[in-house]
Amino acid sequence: MEDGALRFLRGSLEPSPAQGGRVTGYVQDLTELARTQADLKESEERYRELSMAATEGIVIHDGGTIVDVNNAFCRLMGGYETDLTGKNLLELAHPDDVSLLAARLESERDRSERFRLRTLAGDTVVVEITSRSAPRHGRIVRMSAVRDITAAIRAEERAEGQRRLLAQTDRLRSLGTLVAGVAHEINNPNSFVMFNAPLIERAWRDAISLLDEVEREKGPFTLAGMPYARVRGDVPTFIENILSGARRIQEIVEKLRTFVGGAGPGEMELVDPVKVVEEAVELLAPLVARTRGTVTLRSVGRILPIRGRAAEIGQVVVNLVANALQALPEKGGQVTVKTVGEAALGTVAIVVEDDGAGIAPEELEKIFDPFYTTRRGAGGSGLGLSISHTIVEDHGGRLTIEPLPGAGTRATARFPVAAGPDR
Ligand SMILES: Nc1ncnc2c1ncn2[C@@H]1O[C@H](COP(=O)(O)OP(=O)(O)OP(=O)(O)O)[C@@H](O)[C@H]1O
Ligand SMILES: [Mg+2]
Repeated sequence: MEDGALRFLRGSLEPSPAQGGRVTGYVQDLTELARTQADLKESEERYRELSMAATEGIVIHDGGTIVDVNNAFCRLMGGYETDLTGKNLLELAHPDDVSLLAARLESERDRSERFRLRTLAGDTVVVEITSRSAPRHGRIVRMSAVRDITAAIRAEERAEGQRRLLAQTDRLRSLGTLVAGVAHEINNPNSFVMFNAPLIERAWRDAISLLDEVEREKGPFTLAGMPYARVRGDVPTFIENILSGARRIQEIVEKLRTFVGGAGPGEMELVDPVKVVEEAVELLAPLVARTRGTVTLRSVGRILPIRGRAAEIGQVVVNLVANALQALPEKGGQVTVKTVGEAALGTVAIVVEDDGAGIAPEELEKIFDPFYTTRRGAGGSGLGLSISHTIVEDHGGRLTIEPLPGAGTRATARFPVAAGPDR
């Protein structure tokens, strides 16, 4: 060539009989084509280098089948290129996101969306994927950029959790103020009832002898539209009902007060867990009789004292044993209260087991919520476990409730001992 440049030519020569055997032919200049191909190869190589250096994952797929991946994508998926190419991209999707991903990978929209992928080790990662069409070796394939946003999502979730907790603490605090106010308001009028009902009862006993005389002298008469003869026997029951209703109100008010932190005076002292359990169970004698339960006490291992407030720990035992008794079937059942010395852990566990109704799994997560009860009709306030939980945690311990295999429930209040673990 005149300019000295190299050119690619393709030609063919042929003898042509029609033209007396002259050789004819043509020459084609392929320089341009060769240059384009070289450019293309270079651009593909450059792309590959770029893609390998990228921090974002890049996957090239053809009809879903992975044909090429970069290092970042291999790192994200926890495998080598050979583990990933040839696989269908949808195999890497989280089972719940497969159809979503399938729709998006082929969609022409160049918008990024969130999906969950499963790494080769089975972990879930959250990614943003942007896909577009691109030519490769003369075919149109899909190129997807995959950005790992798992850490960002986790941070977002943590922040959201904290926000929710704060809001809840705030709500609980205002609920606490409200409850303390209401408890106080109810307690005053209720104490009139508690105070006056026994007076009425005494007055009635005195009145009976006078009224008996009236009946003897003047014949049968009525009170409140009922014959005196009947009212005579019924009134003491009416009064007893009023009193027991008022006592129940007092108990609930007491619980509400403890719930909002009204209780808890008194110093932390050395408390003997076995003694606390015995005394608490004694207090429950009427409930034991009513529910026809049998309560068995046992102590296991060397039991060291707890540093705490005996009255509060006693209240926890009362609540747990009362719940156990209340869960028993009508014909009665077994409740076992074990006090277990766990010297190596430096803890004492008070374990209450019953063979009663048990707790359904969907209820289990709600039972510590204040006011959650399945015994509303039977006078349950739903505060027993909530209060117990707070008390145990205040003592540096843990309260857990779990179903027993077969039937029934196990409640465990575990406290640190005053001396610390044995070594
Ligand atoms: N041992 C148990 N067996 C079966 N269910 C239980 C047991 N302990 C607790 N529960 C369930 O947990 C709920 C909440 O218990 P919690 O002690 O807080 O309130 P409550 O017993 O209903 O009311 P209160 O303690 O004021 O009498 C109960 O209503 C019951 O459904
Ligand atoms: Mg209870």
